[in-house]
Amino acid sequence: RTGRIAVVGSNMVDLITYVSRMPAPGETLEAPSFESGCGGKGANQAVAAAKLGSQVSMVSRVGDDLFGDNTLRNFSDHGIDIRHVAKVAGKSSGVAPIFVDESGENSILIVKGANEDLLPADVDAAEDVLRDADLILMQLEIPLETIYHTVRRAAEWGVPTILNPAPATSALSVSDLKSLSFLVPNESELALLSGMPTDTEEEIMAAARSLIEKGIGTVIVTLGSRGARLVTADRFTTIEPVSVTPVDTTGAGDAFIGSFAHFFAATGDTETALNRAARYAAYSVGRRGTQKSYASANDFDAFCEALPQ
Ligand code: RIB
Ligand code: NA
Repeated sequence: RTGRIAVVGSNMVDLITYVSRMPAPGETLEAPSFESGCGGKGANQAVAAAKLGSQVSMVSRVGDDLFGDNTLRNFSDHGIDIRHVAKVAGKSSGVAPIFVDESGENSILIVKGANEDLLPADVDAAEDVLRDADLILMQLEIPLETIYHTVRRAAEWGVPTILNPAPATSALSVSDLKSLSFLVPNESELALLSGMPTDTEEEIMAAARSLIEKGIGTVIVTLGSRGARLVTADRFTTIEPVSVTPVDTTGAGDAFIGSFAHFFAATGDTETALNRAARYAAYSVGRRGTQKSYASANDFDAFCEALPQ
């Protein structure tokens, strides 16, 4: 069964420089290599789900520039519906200068550009695709008002929602997310949203449950190389990590969430979907680039077969 996923979210152009170290202020340093590609958390999650075979619709804004044209083409190349992706006159597209060190770890700057112009009215205008979706995905590279509005409308329509509260911001108001189905933070985003420590398993559980008490359905905490934790009011489940040698972790979290949406729409089972998503993200960590490092359905099956059982 093919799921229908809608993403209300961002797109960026990723400008990735691979460095041996970061330059000091005033210093000019030569770096070994560079790659550019399509990125942005919303677009990345959309592309992951589309590559796996979901039917994906994007609600997004691009700039009035060559990057915007390139992003529209990239969505179409992946079979993503762009009827609700418009150009914003006089605005630049979102861009993300990224630095990846030799251990595969990244540092990212984002310039939101046209992503700032995705407004609640645009969500209303996309009602046709949104209320038809099996799941609506969101992240925080668009205005918070747009997120709150989408969560409220989706509840009226009875469509489940996933919010990845990244990049972290203390401006996000949990009381405006009451009917959210899934919140997918990492440990520092969880600490920020709950105002509680998240250093131990017990603390992670308590912090996640404090959000569940405020109305959020399920919290999925991503812990990088330590896997993930699935937290509901009465359940705390470890999702085991899949070990790979990291090459470039950029967009691994998005690979996890986009593929989770696909597998959840396909199976209806959260834990099964999360275990598959952990494998999908691991595949991307072993490869350079953001969307470029995401597996197709066939590549993903081959990768899973080769994993130690
Ligand atoms: O999550 C990774 C993404 O964050 C990158 O693609 C970059 O565009 C930033 O949005
Ligand atoms: Na990667």
